[in-house]
Amino acid sequence: MTTGDNGSEIRELAGKRALVTGGSRGIGAAVVRQFLDAGAEVLTTARSGTGTVPEGAVFVAADLRTRAGAQAVAEAAQEALGGVDILVNNAGGARPFPNALAIPDEEWQDQLDLNYLASVRLDSLLTPGMRARRSGAVVHVSTAAVTTSAPPFLHYTAAKAALENYSRGLALELAPFGVRVNAVSPGRTATPGGEATRKQWASLREGPGQDNTAPPLGRDGRPDDIANAVLFLVSDRASWLTGRNLTVDGGEFPAG
Ligand SMILES: NC(=O)c1ccc[n+]([C@@H]2O[C@H](COP(=O)([O-])OP(=O)(O)OC[C@H]3O[C@@H](n4cnc5c(N)ncnc54)[C@H](OP(=O)(O)O)[C@@H]3O)[C@@H](O)[C@H]2O)c1
Repeated sequence: MTTGDNGSEIRELAGKRALVTGGSRGIGAAVVRQFLDAGAEVLTTARSGTGTVPEGAVFVAADLRTRAGAQAVAEAAQEALGGVDILVNNAGGARPFPNALAIPDEEWQDQLDLNYLASVRLDSLLTPGMRARRSGAVVHVSTAAVTTSAPPFLHYTAAKAALENYSRGLALELAPFGVRVNAVSPGRTATPGGEATRKQWASLREGPGQDNTAPPLGRDGRPDDIANAVLFLVSDRASWLTGRNLTVDGGEFPAG
């Protein structure tokens, strides 16, 4: 929220209708809360939302790894909000394996479905409406770990790398229609999913693994650190930004 010249409160997303995937916890829940505070109407989705979805958001349960799941969410958004002006593709995550060659075929497919194709499918269902209105903003949540491609997560970082490449191309395609498409790449962020994955990884590690020292800024990321970047990218303050990938990592991945 900002303050106008006459001291009145300006809610940055007033009148906007937003769909945020994976809003039952972690980064997605922080994005939902910030969007609601900024005045947006918000629908969010996860496979289960037992009491953890921020109050004020509409919730629909769906598994986004299938086309049918994406379709159900798009229809629910149309019904509850009447359309979507802002789409944040955040749902994602990974299960580590001892090494890249131990990752089974079905896990590769699962990662492509969740961390890449879920976004492609939702974008294809919801950006035509933005294009017709000549206005809209899409954010894809990737990972700063794309730059290091850690073998126990290669299925995950490869799927997110595809997402980043696709995000840049979609931005070019939709720019003439006033629709902006950007990505946000978090570093290590303290969320239920992130913590669980890092614990699994630590228990598997054979040889060189993840460095557990804090990022240069001295702590792990907080969900709100990432949500701040997402809110910026969908707001009018970022009206001249499209096709970009904002790394938010406290300096963890200096080349990103
Ligand atoms: N935390 C980190 O350190 C970190 C770092 C880099 C990138 N990221 C990225 O940031 C995003 C959010 O991560 P997070 O750490 O906040 O994860 P999280 O705490 O595990 O939350 C993930 C959210 O996505 C939902 N979700 C998972 N699988 C789903 C499915 N198949 N269908 C629909 N919804 C599903 C979860 O709900 P259900 O389980 O009930 O479905 C939950 O709401 C992800 O894309 C992740 O890759 C996180």
